[in-house]
Amino acid sequence: MPLIDVLVIWVHLICASIWVGGSIFLGLILAPMLGSITSSMEERLSIMIRVGRRFNIVALPSLLVLVLTGLYNSRAYLAEPSMLVRTDYGIILLIKIIVVIGVLITYFIHIKLLGNDVEKKIKTENVYSLYVQSIRSKIIILGRITVIMSIVVLLLAAILRSGGYII
Ligand code: HEM
Repeated sequence: MPLIDVLVIWVHLICASIWVGGSIFLGLILAPMLGSITSSMEERLSIMIRVGRRFNIVALPSLLVLVLTGLYNSRAYLAEPSMLVRTDYGIILLIKIIVVIGVLITYFIHIKLLGNDVEKKIKTENVYSLYVQSIRSKIIILGRITVIMSIVVLLLAAILRSGGYII
């Protein structure tokens, strides 16, 4: 394999670790632990928003680089798109691309819901208000879906490594 291809896979793997590892850390470690750090719901939300924004500084470029290096890894198939439906590898790659598009959509809605006006509402309104509660549950559900889909993307990458065959 040419050195450039090895380097591109290396960068793809670094960005996958940042993206998937970081989101699992936020969802499985930080979010459940916040309850034991503070009993104030306002503070919990505010910490999560601040950490999430900081994570985005690294996570969003990683996601972009994942897509660019992924397109490079798939160039042979994208140059002849019929291979995406004619071969086992192509079909798994196509499913992977669709799930990645799903990840991008759910994550961007997740971030959008966490915009400045929601932060203001949390500060000015009661956090137990129906509005804040309904936004909060949407944010949590979208975050979970994003993490689950990212883990599915890793499974599809493992299947691709085996040439698109599972058995
Ligand atoms: C959330 C986004 C993504 C994650 C977490 C991810 C993760 C991974 C991982 C862990 C590998 C294994 C590398 C190896 O050991 O060879 C891989 C390989 C690969 N990825 Fe991605 N990837 C993502 C996005 C994409 C996208 C958008 C594309 C295509 C447009 C893509 C195409 C590929 C290809 C073709 C391989 C090589 C598989 C092989 O034949 O071994 N990836 N990806």
